[in-house]
Amino acid sequence: MKMSKSSGSTAGFDEDLGALIQAAIAVAQHAYIPYSHYPVGAALVATDGRVFTGCNVENASYPAGICAERSALVKAISEGAREFTQIVVATSNGGSPCGVCRQMMYEFAPHLDVIMVDMQGTVQHRMRLADLLPLGFNRDSLEAPPPA
Ligand code: THU
Repeated sequence: MKMSKSSGSTAGFDEDLGALIQAAIAVAQHAYIPYSHYPVGAALVATDGRVFTGCNVENASYPAGICAERSALVKAISEGAREFTQIVVATSNGGSPCGVCRQMMYEFAPHLDVIMVDMQGTVQHRMRLADLLPLGFNRDSLEAPPPA
């Protein structure tokens, strides 16, 4: 897998899950986590084959921090990617994405294949985003209900 720092790289046709998992684990090494000491890495695959990675970046003002999944997503959107197929999330215990990350990813990819791995690369959980966020809120939710 070819990876670049500022923009997504082009993945090979049969980009294998193992390389994606390794990318998520590798980027977790860059996590800025002086408060939680809980590194998270994410590797998000766009439909055009590019892979965007992200880590969690914490802040002394705790709510100002950002999760790994949203770091990867904002990088991707900033580089023009809008559609996604998979995300690998790497944590020490195979933890699942938080609610805010689920919601933000749902905007772009409700059927995203979410693969949660531990730092040994073992898949602990694998689910569709829509199953992780039942009755997810999206733009259709903003439409006015039909008149009675
Ligand atoms: N974290 C993520 O990066 N992704 C998640 O989906 C769950 C939580 C981060 C946020 C914070 O830096 C640390 O993990 C502990 O909550």
